[in-house]
Amino acid sequence: MSDGKVIVCRCNDVTVEEIEALIDKGVTDIEEIKRLLRIGMGPCQGRTCIPIVLGILARKTGRRQEEIPLPRARVPIRPVRVEVIVGGTNE
Ligand code: FES
Repeated sequence: MSDGKVIVCRCNDVTVEEIEALIDKGVTDIEEIKRLLRIGMGPCQGRTCIPIVLGILARKTGRRQEEIPLPRARVPIRPVRVEVIVGGTNE
């Protein structure tokens, strides 16, 4: 049963309402929204939610989506062998 909330980030259960509330408080930097709500930090690494959040940001701030910079990609803290990533095995 739905509670009426629209989930934007399925990995971290972040809703449209949470994102819009932050923007209404003046948080319009995607990096800051990412840090506060953990969007883009789930297993999909934002493949699903970042484009949606950019759309919400564009709509709420009157900017074009192309004008909003994407969040920075961060490399792993320590090197990871490709076969670990591809195979999903433990080191
Ligand atoms: S849906 Fe947001 S990180 Fe996966």
